[in-house]
Amino acid sequence: MKGIKTSYICDCGYRSPKWLGKCPSCGEWNSFTEEIAEPLGGTVGGVKRVSAVSGISGEAIAYKDLELPDFMRSATGLGELDRVLGGGLVNSSVVLLSGEPGIGKSTLLMQISDILGQNRKVLYISGEESYGQLKLRAKRLGVKGDNLFILAETNINNILTQAEKIKPDILIVDSIQTVFNERIASAPGSITQVKECTLSFIEKAKGDGISVILVGHVNKEGSIAGPKVLEHMVDAVLYFEGEKQHTYRIIRAIKNRYGPTNEIGVFEMTDMGLSQVENPSEMLLSGRPKNMSGTCAVCTVEGTRPIIAEIQALVTKSVLASPRRTASGIDYNTMCLITAVLEKRLGLQFSSHDAFLNVIGGLRLDEPAVDLAVALALISSITDRAVPDDLIAIGELGLAGECRAVSGLEQRLKEAARLGFTRAIIPHRSYERLKGDFGIELIPIHSIFDAINVLKKIPNSEPNI
Ligand code: TYD
Ligand code: MG
Repeated sequence: MKGIKTSYICDCGYRSPKWLGKCPSCGEWNSFTEEIAEPLGGTVGGVKRVSAVSGISGEAIAYKDLELPDFMRSATGLGELDRVLGGGLVNSSVVLLSGEPGIGKSTLLMQISDILGQNRKVLYISGEESYGQLKLRAKRLGVKGDNLFILAETNINNILTQAEKIKPDILIVDSIQTVFNERIASAPGSITQVKECTLSFIEKAKGDGISVILVGHVNKEGSIAGPKVLEHMVDAVLYFEGEKQHTYRIIRAIKNRYGPTNEIGVFEMTDMGLSQVENPSEMLLSGRPKNMSGTCAVCTVEGTRPIIAEIQALVTKSVLASPRRTASGIDYNTMCLITAVLEKRLGLQFSSHDAFLNVIGGLRLDEPAVDLAVALALISSITDRAVPDDLIAIGELGLAGECRAVSGLEQRLKEAARLGFTRAIIPHRSYERLKGDFGIELIPIHSIFDAINVLKKIPNSEPNI
């Protein structure tokens, strides 16, 4: 057709006029799919484009005439989710909820549909499950669904026609990878389809002032299949994380145009669906082994909330030329760096040992304040001496083995004291700035050497270094 150009696009967003086997940008094989570029005149798949930002096409406005927006938010009824969203679902916004298959996305959305449906109209599009399957799940979750409409459909034109008829306040699309536009040649789930359908939903949200939630499946590499292109198109991206073998689930905002991105929501998967965990520290510490080597508690701050986590290390003699290192919940490179610091500064022979690190409960710790606890867990395991159960370690480690200041120490100490910890090893620099009593003994240190000396004075914990 005249005016329509075909090009090929990789999952990373790289475009080429020809199909390529290997992407020159990201190096991925077999990742190019066909994309039909927009013809002049701004129509694609027969749909006329409007502005995806405001829903109208207009003229430039003088800055001083701009008005402060008043976002209307609807509470989802799940405080943990509202916190991540920044206070509830915003009208005219598009949220992408992504996670691995089976993690609980459909369950969560069915639960909030019921609550949101109490005073708003919800249209739930299911491209994966039949009406029967949906009803079965909803019944199990105790959904009343007075204002809930279900549509098992994958053709975007039919979806938009139904949405026009029902006029929902909230539109849920489960999942975006199943929806397709019949005017586009590529298969559902391909980058062109996913992008085009997302754009149509964004236009619908901005044009009609409704909130849209799109479900996106994550492929095994961890990116949203279809993939990164979606993240910059939508207003908020939420990741639903957790390990299937555990019941804990964490929702994290990695992008939010209407709120903070560092908050997390914690849930537990039960027979009755997802229930909120308002006290994650208690949950994460339950079942903590007593008096065992290789574990150390730390307090991390997620958004506005301090959470106590347990770091476990297992260090064993290696029979391999290059010993194994695995880290779950901690960045692999951080782990390698800390073992290198301990080897160099304390003379511990990590290079002849396999080392495994794990954060209990599927929590991911990526702030430097956990370095000291990681180091103590590793030292505890290699020397086979337990860190006392009532001790918590907070601090960043430098390459010279020095212990650096951390932010938000007050709230971390308060949370530790609340959960019954009685002593805390903390950076000296932060200690100098602390004011008041936190109900916990404070042990300020300058370096990892000081931390070892502290442990040496505690009976049964003295590492043999
Ligand atoms: P689901 O919401 O279908 O996952 P997703 O949409 O992310 O693919 O959740 C599937 C899992 O959740 C499934 O293994 C069963 C479990 N589950 C419960 O444990 N309790 C429940 O009440 C429900 C509805 C599901
Ligand atoms: Mg699902």
